[in-house]
Amino acid sequence: MRRGSLHGEIDLSAVTFFSPVQEEIKLIEERMRSQADKSHPDLRAALEHLLAAGGKRIRPTLGLLVGNMLDAPLEKLVTLGAAVELLHTATLVHDDLIDGSLLRRGMATLNARWSPPATVLTGDFLFARAAKLAAETDHLPLMKLFSETLAVIVNGELTQMFSSRGVINRDNYYNRIYAKTASLFEMTSRAAAMVSPVGEDAIEAMRDFGYQIGMAFQIVDDILDFTGEQAAVGKPLGSDLLSGLVTLPAIYYAESNPGDPDVLSLPNGGWTNAENMSRLLENIRASDSSRQAMREAENHVKRALERLKEMPPCPERDALEHLAKYIVDRKV
Ligand code: IPE
Ligand code: IPE
Ligand code: MG
Ligand code: MG
Repeated sequence: MRRGSLHGEIDLSAVTFFSPVQEEIKLIEERMRSQADKSHPDLRAALEHLLAAGGKRIRPTLGLLVGNMLDAPLEKLVTLGAAVELLHTATLVHDDLIDGSLLRRGMATLNARWSPPATVLTGDFLFARAAKLAAETDHLPLMKLFSETLAVIVNGELTQMFSSRGVINRDNYYNRIYAKTASLFEMTSRAAAMVSPVGEDAIEAMRDFGYQIGMAFQIVDDILDFTGEQAAVGKPLGSDLLSGLVTLPAIYYAESNPGDPDVLSLPNGGWTNAENMSRLLENIRASDSSRQAMREAENHVKRALERLKEMPPCPERDALEHLAKYIVDRKV
């Protein structure tokens, strides 16, 4: 399947939890594709390029499985899934421009091919279409939650830009990964429950489920930045430290090696020295820090699975269990 093969050897169609929603994911991709109809040909081409690059579609899969488990109308889940994935895509378009990243999903990013103004405007267009899709759910609390989440993501990116470089601090880290990643997972599973015929308890359980796997997802993403295979991950690796971002493996390393001169240099702009950072990167890779960080991610998944047990047993619940476990097993 296209979604898997683009990152290298891993075929996502072999991952069990995608199978029950494969057809519905196609509907979501169609819905996303149609958002640039009647627009400038370059916008249509850009959206085509972004869609062709694939992606794991993990957020719409989460929304579909939660909603199907709770008997939500399919039409609302498809609209929600397209809104969420388009919002995700828009944040990546802007993020790659901000980070100067040239590779995403194993393909050239828009900013690698286009000027910054064209890239910004394409991102804006995608945000606008995502908002329109959210409105098409005809669910006012969902629309409010959607725009609130976008505000959290953008505020997180700005905080990361202005107040996180070289900062070795757990709270700073957890707030950052909540804002940039867990908030959207949380929103997705919460919104899927909100459009389902269920009460507050189920909505809260699913909100927490999304939150926990979202935190785990970003911790694993940060571990892959140290330990991942470039061909599989499909985006530049080893880049967090070089841009001054101290993620969980680096925090564990700093806690165990407080006297390391490269660690000590971080808060004073030491991350701008590429040579020292490659040394630190190697030292972190050789240490136990990534394993320690992985244990934290696994604990989030454990908490997610506890919340999932509150739901009645069904095939979708099993698939969600697989999805949660995949988050800490993934190489992509
Ligand atoms: C990438 O998200 C950005 C992060 C939040 C880490 P994904 O890893 O879900 O990206 P795609 O959509 O599969 O490419
Ligand atoms: C991307 O953050 C998260 C958002 C889209 C807000 P990162 O910069 O850490 O993600 P990658 O590594 O580029 O995927
Ligand atoms: Mg980035
Ligand atoms: Mg990253």
